[in-house]
Parts: sequence; C-alpha cells; structure tokens
Amino acid sequence: MARTSRFPGFYKVTVAERRLLVSEATGTSPDEMASALRYGGLDPETADKFVENVLGTYALPYGVCLNVRVNQHDYVVPMVVEEPSVVAAASSAAKMVRAGGGFVAESDRPVMTSQVQITEVQDVPSAIASILRYKKEVVALADAAVPGLVQRGGGASGLDVRQLGTDADRMLVVHVHVDCRDAMGANLVNTIAEAVADRLAALAQGKVGLRILTNLCDKRCVRVTCRVPASELATETMNGEDVIDGIVNASRFAELDPYRAATHNKGVMNGIDAVTIATGNDWRAVEAGAHAFASRSGRYAPLALWRRAEPLPSGEGILGGRLEMPVALGTVGGTLRVHPAARLSLRMLGVTAATDLAQIAASVGLANNLSAIRALATDGIQRGHMALHARTVALAAGAVGSMVEQVAQMIVEARDVTLEAAKRALVAARSAAEAAASVDGE
Ligand code: MEV
Repeated sequence: MARTSRFPGFYKVTVAERRLLVSEATGTSPDEMASALRYGGLDPETADKFVENVLGTYALPYGVCLNVRVNQHDYVVPMVVEEPSVVAAASSAAKMVRAGGGFVAESDRPVMTSQVQITEVQDVPSAIASILRYKKEVVALADAAVPGLVQRGGGASGLDVRQLGTDADRMLVVHVHVDCRDAMGANLVNTIAEAVADRLAALAQGKVGLRILTNLCDKRCVRVTCRVPASELATETMNGEDVIDGIVNASRFAELDPYRAATHNKGVMNGIDAVTIATGNDWRAVEAGAHAFASRSGRYAPLALWRRAEPLPSGEGILGGRLEMPVALGTVGGTLRVHPAARLSLRMLGVTAATDLAQIAASVGLANNLSAIRALATDGIQRGHMALHARTVALAAGAVGSMVEQVAQMIVEARDVTLEAAKRALVAARSAAEAAASVDGE
C-alpha cells in the first residue's frame, strides 16, 4: 500500500483520532502506538538500564510532520520537540514543497571515520609513508575487529594520514573510514580505532594517543533540494514573487553573516533534531557534525541556501532550496533496539536503511528552515509563534480541556500573551461558562 502523509484537518481532531489515522496510513496498529507511547515512550524500568542514577523519565511531546514527500515517497515523520510551532511549521512548508514535486534527496554511503592520534613521532614523513605502505594490512585489521559489520556488507573502506601542527608537534592522525551500513556507527568505529591503534603506532614509531570517531562525518553527507512555486509562498499581504525575493535575501544574510547563519541553522536543526530524537538517535552527534561542517571553510556558514530557480513555462517564479550536511543516523542498534517509541517511529516511517532516514530528517530540516525564513521575510515570526505559544501559557495559567484553546485565543486577540493575561482570561472564561450553565439550568 502506498503511504500518504496528507491528513487535512489533522490538528482539529483528538489525539485518539490522530493515532487511528496515522496507524491506518502507516500500517502500525493503534494498540502498538498506545503501548509504545505509554509512560511517554519509555518506562522507568527500561530507563534504568539506559543510563545511571535513574530517578524516572522525562517526557516530551511526540508529534508527526505531515505532507512530507521525499523522492516520490510519502512519509509521516515523527518529531519529538518541546518548542511550539516547530511541527506545524515543518508540516506547512512540506506542503508547499510538495506542490513543487516534493524533496529530492541523495546521500553518501554511511561512512564514519575513526581517528587514531599518534604522538612522539620521530620522523613524520617516514611515519606517514610507512602507514600508507601497510594500508591494506591496517584495513584488514579493522575489518577483523567488526566481523558482524563485514558480514552485513560494511567495514573499513580506506585510510588517510595527516600531520598535525608543525614538525615540533611530532603528531599525526590516522583516519580509518568505515561503512557502518544501517548503524549510526559510533561503537563500531571506536572499536576499530582501538583495534588498529597499536599497529599504527608501531608503523609510525610513535605513541598511541586518542582513539575515537570524529563527529565531523563529512563522508556521510545528505543533499536535499526542493522547488517551491511562488503561488505557494504568497501570504495575505505579500505576493509570492516578493516572498521569493525576501527568502533569497534571508539566505544571503546568513551567507554573509555568521551571527545570522547560527540562527538560520538553528531553524534547520529544529527539524533534524526532532526526527533524530524521535528515532532514538544521538542528537548531540548530529549537532556536532552539523556545526563543524558549517564551519568547514573557516567561516561559519548556512547549511541551507535559497535562490530563484528557472521559472515555470507560465512565467511563475520558483524558489529553489538546497541543504547539504552530514547526518549520522542509524536504524539498528543502540537505543533503537530497546526504546519502544523509537521502534514505533521507524515502523511509522517504514524505513530500514539509515541513508533513507537521514534523507527524511534532512528534508524536514529544510522544511523548518523554509518555514522560518518565509515567516521572517513576511509577517515576522512572532505572530505564528505567539498563537501557538499562547496554548502553553494558557496551560501554565491552569486552563484545562476546551478552556485551553479559549484562553489562548483570548490572549492572542488581546495581543498580550503573558501568564498574567492568561490568568485573567481564565477567570473571565470560567465565569462566562458558569453564567451560561446557570442560564441553561433555569
Ligand atoms: C526558532 O526556533 C528558529 C528560528 O529562529 C530560525 C530562524 O531564525 O531562521 C525562527
């Protein structure tokens, strides 16, 4: 069955109805969903096996990004995030991208890199030559340390050596590149680093230093592009062609100013982190890789760029977006094996290949970036943010049930989204409800 990610009016129905819709569309059962999401997705006993000194678990909202189409496939994409508007923003931008044909994504092989530091090297050039001469032997040693991975078609694929600093530092680093197949790969790559280190130090006539993966996994990049017709970008007050110009200016701002690039990339990571967390992956690793990659030219730069593309035959303008960055995500091993909600996420997505998951996460990142800079280039971010933030404020003021929406609406209309205003609105809403109930009872 072809999956759909289109659910018009999804936000208006109850949580139970949403679960039903998503389980029907993705082939997961409502029972499986309910059981995986019980206790916020992780029970305290399982949590106690994950980390140390556990007192309990800490839940975050688990939502789904709709309308996502990547390489002609629809995906209902789970997102775990605390910030209001991130899920809505990604869903609405994914809908605009969908109108232009959806995201087109491709990725490198899932290659991670071990770093082995060698110190106290007597003669750096001959150490490098010696390691390169025995490259095959070192690669075989690496493979021997991870037989399961080799059986699954992965394993070490090559090796580079670099001198670090000047001759006075007497230091070099060996990079062993490893195809990790569907694993994120940290354990595999660290195992390899430790397995080959002594031999490398002997070849270099130096001393073993650190042995660990690099999170700047620039051999594991994802590239996503999209095309959005101007008509999809228009707002109530701005035509689509002007919005394209505004978005291109926003992109140029980020390209010219690292202060803006940091916030631009934060918008990208809103989506990527949320998918990373929902699928049980290591978001600190993805963050570290993203920002190191963004700085690769020596100057911090935006991960996603926007330009005008070739217009449609009708003359309608097209906005073209492109994101490139490393995304180290796994679909097997680690947390995934034991976290019920992470397993549910993968079932909902229907993906088994780590590269597919990375392409989906990157597409959602590009969607979040588009949504943010479109809002910034048009109405400003606060209007949409405040409307959604108002619900959290209403909850904090003590509103429950239908009062949450009511109070949220009241404070948005009053343009005063504060706790004090919400408390006043709640008192007013409650007395209006009581007055209405006593009229009904007469
Ligand atoms: C907020 O979470 C993200 C934004 O700041 C991103 C951006 O400025 O592009 C809105």
